[in-house]
Amino acid sequence: MNLSTKQHFQKAEREGYAIGQFNVSTADQIKAIMKVAVKLKSPVIFGTSEGERDFLGVREAVKLCEAYEEETGLPIILNADHTKSADKVEEALKAGYNSIHFDGSELDYEENIKQTKYVVQMCARFSPDISVEGELGHLAGVSKIIKEKVEIKPEYYTDPAQAADFVARTGVDRMAIIIGNSHGISIDEPKLDIERLAQSYTLLKGKAVIVLHGGSGIPDDQIQASIQNGIRKINVNTELRAAFHDTLKKVLDETDETTPYKYLVSAMDAMGNVVDNKIMLFGSANKA
Ligand code: G3H
Ligand code: ZN
Repeated sequence: MNLSTKQHFQKAEREGYAIGQFNVSTADQIKAIMKVAVKLKSPVIFGTSEGERDFLGVREAVKLCEAYEEETGLPIILNADHTKSADKVEEALKAGYNSIHFDGSELDYEENIKQTKYVVQMCARFSPDISVEGELGHLAGVSKIIKEKVEIKPEYYTDPAQAADFVARTGVDRMAIIIGNSHGISIDEPKLDIERLAQSYTLLKGKAVIVLHGGSGIPDDQIQASIQNGIRKINVNTELRAAFHDTLKKVLDETDETTPYKYLVSAMDAMGNVVDNKIMLFGSANKA
């Protein structure tokens, strides 16, 4: 039976695993990730930030996902990641996205609630099946290899009680929280505050699923602990970008190959290996 986007997250909650969101901006990346998802029979989320989908094209992203879904029978969730305005939400919805992340985390608390609630209502008018993610706290860093320390100040962390209030007042399906995570891979090993996550899980269970951004560079044992304590969606970007870039650079440096479908294969496979490891770690294999 085909599950709706919301039902995929409910299933992950019931069965205690996380679904990976893999960020993409090219058709090659989608193809490489699909190959692995099919092999592992895993549901998959493609995330496209505003910049990523401006490059790929919103209609093109939707059509590619529809084609792969038809061809493979595998469920695909297409998420408009870190969307900062209602206009950009509407653009994604009109193109056919089935998942929205509205990121009002830079706004003050009440304004974040007001705009997120507006987006939740807009999405519901498009389709009751669209899953909406809100965000609270401050996510430091950017999705790249950062050769310095990224400071995560105590005030960046999401307060569990405030997250519960935010969910109740906005009606979001998913809640992105900050528990020591940041975007990108910096020189410091991340240290997730699992106790704080557990407090959020106690308050949010059955109301919204919890999302971990900045999934790159977090040690496996901390990822496992986060899933045990309620994380149901994990976003990964930097590790995919680095695997693709480093392998492509090596191939281009070492060969005279000029045919794209030949010189791209190793980079796609290297990125696919990262996805393979993440799907196994997140526990979503055989859950499609
Ligand atoms: O929204 C996307 C992510 O949070 C990716 O973070 O680049 O640290 O893997 P990352
Ligand atoms: Zn993110």
